[in-house]
Amino acid sequence: MNSVFQGKSFLKEIDFTKAELEYLIDFAIHLKALKQKNIPHHYLAGKNIALLFEKTSTRTRSAFTTAAIDLGAHPEYLGKNDIQLGKKESVADTAKVLGSMFDGIEFRGFSQKNVESLAKYSGVPVWNGLTDEWHPTQMIADFMTIKEIFGKTAGLTVAYVGDGRNNMANSLLVTGAILGVNVQIVTPESLAPSAEIQSLAKQKAAESGAELVITSDITAGVQGVDVVYTDVWVSMGEESEYEARIKLLQPYQVNQALMDQAGSHAIFLHCLPAFHDLNTEVAQEIQAKYGLTEMEVTDEVFNAPYAHQFQQAENRMHSIKAIMAATLGNLFIPKV
Ligand code: CP
Ligand code: NVA
Repeated sequence: MNSVFQGKSFLKEIDFTKAELEYLIDFAIHLKALKQKNIPHHYLAGKNIALLFEKTSTRTRSAFTTAAIDLGAHPEYLGKNDIQLGKKESVADTAKVLGSMFDGIEFRGFSQKNVESLAKYSGVPVWNGLTDEWHPTQMIADFMTIKEIFGKTAGLTVAYVGDGRNNMANSLLVTGAILGVNVQIVTPESLAPSAEIQSLAKQKAAESGAELVITSDITAGVQGVDVVYTDVWVSMGEESEYEARIKLLQPYQVNQALMDQAGSHAIFLHCLPAFHDLNTEVAQEIQAKYGLTEMEVTDEVFNAPYAHQFQQAENRMHSIKAIMAATLGNLFIPKV
C-alpha cells in the first residue's frame, strides 16, 4: 500500500488535510531528533532534486539543500539566470524536461499559476518554496515551532501584525483555520486579506472550530494572544511600495509596548529576513530616505528571550525534510 502522501505535490496548504498537516509537523519533530542524535535517515537515496529560484532566498534554499543531502538525495540549484524558464522556454516545456531527469522539484517564484503548471506537466512532486500567494513549507516549520514551545497547536491564538494581504498572512490565516488555531490578522483596512482568501479560511475554520479575526485595531488584535507574528512590510517584487507601506504600517510595528499588550507568556515569531536594525543595505537606504531605524520589529523585541525566529529558521530544514521524505520517499504511511 502506498503512503497517502506518495507522489503528491505541496503547492498550497489546502492540498493537505488537518491530519496530514499534523503528521508533517510531527514527522518534522521526529526528523529533528534523528538529526540531533546523528541517526541516518536516507529516505531519498539516489533521488535527484531540482531547486528553482526566481526570487532570492537564504533559508528556503539552504533548507532544501541540506535536507536533500541528509535524505541521501542530490540537490541541484537552478537560479533565475541559469535556465531558459520564462525567457526562452515555457513553464510547461521546462516542467516536462525537468520531470524526466529529476524526481522532485522545488519552485520559488512570483506566480502561483507557474508552480501549479510545473506540478501538472512534470509528473513529479513539486514543492512551493514561496509564491506571491502562499508559503506552505514555512507553515510546517512555524506550527512545528509553536508545538515545540507550547506542546500543542489547536486552541492557541496567533496574531499576525503587518501586511495582511501578503503570502505569509494568507498562509497563516488558512493554515491556522485548518489546524484549529485561532488567527487574528491585525492590519490596516486597505491591507486586509482578499475576500477569496477570507472565504476559504472561513470555510476551513467552520470545520476545525478555529476563530478568525481581521481587524485594524491593534489592542483588540493582540490582547492576550499566545503568538505575535510579523513579516516585512514590503515583499519581494513590491519594492516600489516602501513609502506607502511605511505610512500605513508604522503604527503596526511590533515593539515592546505592543508585546506588553499580548501578555507575559506570548512568544514572537518572524519568517525572516527582518528589518530590525541598520545592518543591511536596504535598511540604510530606508533610513536615509524616511528616517526609520527599524521597521516591522524593533531590535529590542527581536533580541528578547521570548523571540524564537532562529528556532523557526532551523525548523525550516527539518520540516522541508519531512515534506520531501513523505511525498517522495517510499515510506509506509498507510493513513494519518
Ligand atoms: N523565510 C524564508 O522563506 O526565508 P528566505 O527568503 O531566506 O528563504
Ligand atoms: N512576504 C515575504 C516573505 C519572505 C520569506 C516576501 O514574500 O518577500
